[in-house]
Amino acid sequence: MIPFSSLYLLFSNLLGAVYRRGNLSFSKDGNSVISPVGNRISVFDLKNNKSETLPVSTAKNITCVGLSPDGNLAILVDEDGAALLISLITRAVLHHFHFHKPVASIRFSPDGRKFVVTKENVALMYHAPGRNREFNAFVLDKSYYGPYDETTCIDWTDDSKCFVVGSKDMSTWVFGAERWSNLIYYSLGGHKDIMVGCFFEKDSLDLYTVSQDGTLCVWESDTELDGLVLRKTRLPAERGEEEERGEGEENEPRGEVIRGKGERPKEKEGTKNVRYKQRSKHFFNKEGDFNNLTAAAFHKPTHILVTGFASGIFHLHELPEFNLIHSLSISDQRIATVSMNSSGDWIGFGCSGLGQLLVWEWQSESYVFKQQGHFNNMAALAYSPDGQYIATGGDDGKVKVWNMTSGLCFVTFTEHTSSVTNVTFTSRGFVIVSASLDGTVRAFDLHRYRNFRTFTSPRPAQFSSLAVDPSGDLVSAGAQDSFEVFIWSMQTGRLLEVLGGHEGPVSCLCFSPVQSILASASWDKTVRLWDMMDSWQTKETLRLTSDGLAVSYRPDGQELAVATLDGEISFWSPQSANQTGSISGRHDLKMGRKETEKITSKQSAKGKSFTSLCYSADGESILAGGQSKFVCIYNIREQILMKKFEISCNLSLDAMEEFLDRRKMTEFGSLALVDEGVGDGDGVELSLPGVRKGDMSSRHFKPEIRVSSLRFSPTGRSWAATSTEGLLTYSLDGALVFDPYDLDLDVTPASVRRQLRQAKWAAAIVLAFRLNETALTQEVLEAVPHHQITVVCGSLPDVYVEKLLGFIASALERCGHLQFYLSWSQSLLTQHGQKLKTRWVLVECGRVHLSLCPVTVWNVVVFICLCVLCSCDWNMYTIRYAVALSKQKGVKRTAGDALCDKDESEDSEVMSEDSLEETDMLV
Ligand SMILES: *[C@@H]1O[C@H](CO)[C@@H](O)[C@H](O)[C@H]1NC(C)=O
Ligand SMILES: *[C@@H]1O[C@H](CO)[C@@H](O)[C@H](O)[C@H]1NC(C)=O
Ligand SMILES: *[C@@H]1O[C@H](CO)[C@@H](O)[C@H](O)[C@H]1NC(C)=O
Ligand SMILES: *[C@@H]1O[C@H](CO)[C@@H](O)[C@H](O)[C@H]1NC(C)=O
Ligand SMILES: *[C@@H]1O[C@H](CO)[C@@H](O)[C@H](O)[C@H]1NC(C)=O
Ligand SMILES: *[C@@H]1O[C@H](CO)[C@@H](O)[C@H](O)[C@H]1NC(C)=O
Ligand SMILES: *[C@@H]1O[C@H](CO)[C@@H](O)[C@H](O)[C@H]1NC(C)=O
Repeated sequence: MIPFSSLYLLFSNLLGAVYRRGNLSFSKDGNSVISPVGNRISVFDLKNNKSETLPVSTAKNITCVGLSPDGNLAILVDEDGAALLISLITRAVLHHFHFHKPVASIRFSPDGRKFVVTKENVALMYHAPGRNREFNAFVLDKSYYGPYDETTCIDWTDDSKCFVVGSKDMSTWVFGAERWSNLIYYSLGGHKDIMVGCFFEKDSLDLYTVSQDGTLCVWESDTELDGLVLRKTRLPAERGEEEERGEGEENEPRGEVIRGKGERPKEKEGTKNVRYKQRSKHFFNKEGDFNNLTAAAFHKPTHILVTGFASGIFHLHELPEFNLIHSLSISDQRIATVSMNSSGDWIGFGCSGLGQLLVWEWQSESYVFKQQGHFNNMAALAYSPDGQYIATGGDDGKVKVWNMTSGLCFVTFTEHTSSVTNVTFTSRGFVIVSASLDGTVRAFDLHRYRNFRTFTSPRPAQFSSLAVDPSGDLVSAGAQDSFEVFIWSMQTGRLLEVLGGHEGPVSCLCFSPVQSILASASWDKTVRLWDMMDSWQTKETLRLTSDGLAVSYRPDGQELAVATLDGEISFWSPQSANQTGSISGRHDLKMGRKETEKITSKQSAKGKSFTSLCYSADGESILAGGQSKFVCIYNIREQILMKKFEISCNLSLDAMEEFLDRRKMTEFGSLALVDEGVGDGDGVELSLPGVRKGDMSSRHFKPEIRVSSLRFSPTGRSWAATSTEGLLTYSLDGALVFDPYDLDLDVTPASVRRQLRQAKWAAAIVLAFRLNETALTQEVLEAVPHHQITVVCGSLPDVYVEKLLGFIASALERCGHLQFYLSWSQSLLTQHGQKLKTRWVLVECGRVHLSLCPVTVWNVVVFICLCVLCSCDWNMYTIRYAVALSKQKGVKRTAGDALCDKDESEDSEVMSEDSLEETDMLV
């Protein structure tokens, strides 16, 4: 049977990356931190110790995040200025918008009615998206000009009347959000470096400004907030002086334009303009010139200013007196962002260098939360036997263990000094073994959190592969440089055996789950099977067509899958050493072109292959991933692709785009190559085989998307992959719950038939469903005149649509009125298709059509129609798979005929073949 479950797996979480860049924000209640990770955002619940990555993503890495004051909405802006408006409650994308230029920061007004974004030297004020869904949720209100250079930071007054913008040109501008006659704009100087923060004092126009060189200026205004005077009518003379309406030069609307100038706006009608006076100036103790001030946050109710520095130090000051409360070094990396929660007791820090996210409680001087992702790539992963934990190893030499319930890392082992190449749990579950290029294999105890055993080889060797036998007594590791396989005893730590014979690096090791046999794959184009019972002699040598990259035993031990450099997966019988099948994956990997590649993606795909394999628990399908953004699930018996998962759509990563982007081509070649200075066009440069990370020494370095390791969870309800972005988990969405039927007293077969007699079809159907009697429902449905079906479907309450579809699906199995029931499903799907939980339909139809009843061609056709009609999230591979399956199963029709109704005549058989082809075309 088709393991349907594996097809409904949906993105569920991203672990291992906690912060990269962009703004950290606290939720409204102050208990969660919202942190951008790549092109997604994660929510860390600090009270319940949970993390979750939302299933929304932007096209490129997120650079800034604006949270609405009620905490319901967030605006995410990526590197290019493409923005998403998302609801943090439903986790849905509400609106897409493009600012067309990189956006430096974004801030909602405290009353939630406006927000300001700064792009380049302009501050744009938009109407905040309302409660109702509008056609365009982003309506520009006013554009503010003034600074000469890029703007960096924004703050609003508490009553949303004014906002202040700091700029890289060392100036700070106060702008009126409404038409104040005494405050249109006001520019403040006084700094000698880029502005990092500017903050209004609570309920006041008084201002603090902080610049990168560690200077704080305290500004006092001569007016209180309620001293702002609304301008009455606009005098014609005013027009053109500091306001213009939409100059024609650009097409995009600019709303009302406020142009700040060097001189102060003229005072009119006896109103006195707001003036600022510098009250004091303070200097932070920077300890050195290179220790720039990099981030600042101010908590208005408590008057506490937090400043973060490039050296990883932060200071807490009380303003306006500038009393130092605390100072601490939390990292050796630049603090990229600082944020304070609403109560002011927690401070969140993000350090992009190492991807650290810290939350510090300043009163108790303790960490509330401390997480760090793997620096650089993750290389390996392993599920614990109970599926509760995942261990990951990274190129940074760290081994981390993640709690799958909470999504947080609870222990990090740092003993390795070089890249970790594989990790695994022993069968009892509390020991983790890891192999590293530093020449050691280490075993860690999860009870006492220590490295209790270290295995080494007599001569130093770089271990590129690792396997632990099912009993947990034998540890084996394969070397990349000496081509040998080493076997140690877990108990004693002694080296038991050195297996020689391979003539190339040993790329993967795997123990048979049922026998004491070790399989080793090597670049020498062989897989060797070593028999422990026979003093580790080579039992068999499997000759591959190309270099062996990964090998995996089927859970019952009766089959071996081997991935080779030519992009194939071959299947072998371990007993006879005969090849039983193969799948060519090159086409499915459909690798993206790298920006600097001078060859087409078709050509470059020729050099790509799978590097990680994992069988599903039933051994029917295999999960494969490699140097691609796609992870494929194949059905082994049919040797056909069942589903492709696109693990990332982050265009900030390399090798994402399949085709050449013409916009990035210049007459000198690709833009990326021109930047690189190697675009002379002579000779085709290919990266060396086995290059994993790209050339980090080059000026233009973009990490390439790839999957380094894949595992199904022991429970079979999820799978995980380590990729350039972090640890991704996909799991089954268990939320297939229905509303219970509500039974009233007057629902009886008699009342159903009464409705029928009165030709109240929809009511009769609802009543019949409430009774839940198959025969009656069928009677009712078949009583509906054919020409009424569309009308009845249209008036059916939503709740019953799914039920009816399910019923029709099963009715198709039982009786022969194919045309009739097909009309039902068609009109249901065309009228309600959008509202349906497509997944439900698929599960239901899939269950009925493909698992319970012998598959007939017809059923599959109907099933495919359903899939296509409801524009489901299945992809074409799934459908092709179903078609292929039906063709194969069609042969065994005799058994199916006996069970299905005799009415299914020859005619319908012929017809079905036709429609099968039609569906093929549709696909
Ligand atoms: C974008 O995000 C990815 C994944 O989080 C990261 O590896 C990459 O370095 C980021 N790129 C930039 C330019 O920040
Ligand atoms: C967001 O972060 C950027 C730098 O990453 C900073 O310039 C900007 O001021 C921050 N915005 C806010 C509203 O904190
Ligand atoms: C600190 O700021 C100065 C002036 O803007 C700049 O030249 C220098 O490169 C910065 N240093 C670091 C370490 O960022
Ligand atoms: C894993 O997380 C869950 C939920 O937060 C918690 O109950 C459990 O104790 C955690 N386990 C470990 C080992 O931290
Ligand atoms: C990593 O370890 C697992 C579990 O022992 C094993 O199945 C897998 O083949 C290993 N991978 C490599 C590359 O050695
Ligand atoms: C393995 O293949 C050889 C040659 O094709 C064949 O003679 C042999 O019978 C096969 N063994 C099994 C067990 O299928
Ligand atoms: C309706 O009846 C079927 C069996 O006839 C049963 O499996 C199903 O749970 C029932 N549905 C409800 C909502 O009671």
